[in-house]
Amino acid sequence: MARNGKVAVIGAGFYGSTTAQRLAEYDIFDEVVLTDIIEGRPEGLALDMNQSRPIEGFETKVTGATTGRSGEGYEVIAGSDIVIMTAGLPRKPGMSRMDLIETNAKIVRQVAENVAKHAPNAVVIVVSNPLDEMTALAQLATAFPKNRVLGQAGMLDTARFTNSVAEKLGVPVAAVTTLTLGSHGDTMVPVPSKCTVEVDGKRQPLTDLLSAEDIEALVERTRNGGAEVVALLKTGSAFYAPAAAAARMAKAVIEDSGAVMPVCAWVEGEYGIDGVYLGVVAELGREGVRKVVETDLTDTELAALKEAAEAVRAKQADVQNL
Ligand SMILES: NC(=O)c1ccc[n+]([C@@H]2O[C@H](COP(=O)([O-])OP(=O)(O)OC[C@H]3O[C@@H](n4cnc5c(N)ncnc54)[C@H](O)[C@@H]3O)[C@@H](O)[C@H]2O)c1
Repeated sequence: MARNGKVAVIGAGFYGSTTAQRLAEYDIFDEVVLTDIIEGRPEGLALDMNQSRPIEGFETKVTGATTGRSGEGYEVIAGSDIVIMTAGLPRKPGMSRMDLIETNAKIVRQVAENVAKHAPNAVVIVVSNPLDEMTALAQLATAFPKNRVLGQAGMLDTARFTNSVAEKLGVPVAAVTTLTLGSHGDTMVPVPSKCTVEVDGKRQPLTDLLSAEDIEALVERTRNGGAEVVALLKTGSAFYAPAAAAARMAKAVIEDSGAVMPVCAWVEGEYGIDGVYLGVVAELGREGVRKVVETDLTDTELAALKEAAEAVRAKQADVQNL
């Protein structure tokens, strides 16, 4: 099997370590690097993952390295094709993602500056919260072209929507297609008009299968999908589905596949929205975002997307000073 490329995952907490494991198990990269500021944690996790290779049958090498807050140890990410930034605090029950902005902005800025120095050609996938704002900050702090910095949220929110619809209708998740756009927060925009379910080999609109009330309840559950997990776990936030989403994005980039998926990308005129990082559907390739793919929306959905854009635009302007 042909393996190629190097992907670095910054932050070896729940999200980072699970992402590194998924990436390594794809067995498509030469190397997965995992770093953290907690001494020994990334090295220990990497050793553990490498020891799983004979059992799971993959050859990708996992390298763990401790980095310092001033950038010590970052040489390990040199030559990375992709960097996934997961460093930062997760929510606690009752917190909004926005409550993390000041603390995580400091972390994301420090990480981004080191990424720019040591992996200047990488595509950067941001996952730290609040997602849309941290993606904007990572682009500012790296000064990378905007297509080379993107965020993970839409894949996860869409997967949550799909899972809820499949559970509600008692059908396989593979039979359900859903979509969420907008921000990874209060102004998330689930798009019922784009949701379909395959029944007896035929695609049917979700609106033909469920009442408006039932769809609204599923939309609301999707919007609160992260908080629902946080409330159950009590410490920490979701990581299995989030890690799957970030890993799939990295796979699309390294394989230059042109896969089309919902991500947080720089929007320049699409939907009549300009100059903001926002959850949209995009085609991914070796250069990061190849293009934003516009999809037909109802008037209500478009209005909600524009509202989301203005909400995140205001916050993204603030991060310049954090
Ligand atoms: N975008 C999404 O859809 C999504 C989903 C879930 C979680 N998240 C976010 O992802 C982030 C990570 O979540 P988690 O569950 O892994 O949290 P976690 O607490 O388990 O791990 C965070 C890790 O970051 C490390 N870290 C802190 N500062 C660092 C620095 N300067 N350099 C390197 N590493 C540093 C910590 O030591 C810790 O190990 C959080 O901000 C969380 O809100 C995003």
